[in-house]
Amino acid sequence: MRIDVLTIFPEMFPPVLESSILARAAAKKVIRIRVHDLRDWSNDKHRKVDDRPYGGGPGMVMRADPFFRAVEQLKKKARGLKAHVVLLSPQGEKLTQKKAEALSKKPWLVLLCGHYEGVDDRVRLALSAEELSIGDYVLTCGELPAMVLIDSVVRLLPGSLGCERSAADESFSGNLLEYPQYTRPVEFRGMRVPDILLSGDAPRVAEWRRLQSLRRTRAQRPDLMR
Ligand SMILES: C[S@@+](CC[C@H](N)C(=O)[O-])C[C@H]1O[C@@H](n2cnc3c(N)ncnc32)[C@H](O)[C@@H]1O
Repeated sequence: MRIDVLTIFPEMFPPVLESSILARAAAKKVIRIRVHDLRDWSNDKHRKVDDRPYGGGPGMVMRADPFFRAVEQLKKKARGLKAHVVLLSPQGEKLTQKKAEALSKKPWLVLLCGHYEGVDDRVRLALSAEELSIGDYVLTCGELPAMVLIDSVVRLLPGSLGCERSAADESFSGNLLEYPQYTRPVEFRGMRVPDILLSGDAPRVAEWRRLQSLRRTRAQRPDLMR
């Protein structure tokens, strides 16, 4: 999969992209992520990409033209690869595990990061196939949401995780939360690992885990069971 990110803060990305599973996925060529400085597509001599909002009001708005030029140039160079353009926005559809799974099937994502008061609405209307939010709160910029999206998608790609089953068994993969997990020691500060997990009886362990998943989901996220 290919991912291109358009941002005015490219320096925010390397610490995340060059760590852990994302770094491994890139090394294994499961993913190719390019982070671009949106200012490279500014026509302004000071490389400005924002301007005052029409109608007045506080703050600045990101101009549409650098986004249009950038996406058009990336598409032209991609020779036929179909881009799925995503605008990160608190007003978008919520990013869920299901949505991450759908995005992981796309060959190429282009992520547009907003800042200031947001992005000129013509970008949403004419450029972005999809407007996505990572939750009902407002962040200062779209870079953190873009990294959240990248992480949620890349870990689903075959070859990214050490163990393919990790993603299949996880919370939300089947509309349930995952069962409780334990590791050594067997006893810690008076709390013992459930005996069933030490039994070596795989079918009974699976049954116990399924029951725990159901109980946990009912207690913590009853909305998922509906
Ligand atoms: C301060 S926000 C703009 C908020 C906008 N004025 C509003 O009220 O909807 C600046 C940028 O951060 C990003 N952003 C903020 N919160 C987000 C969220 N929950 N999900 C995705 N992107 C978000 C978007 O790219 C947005 O353009």
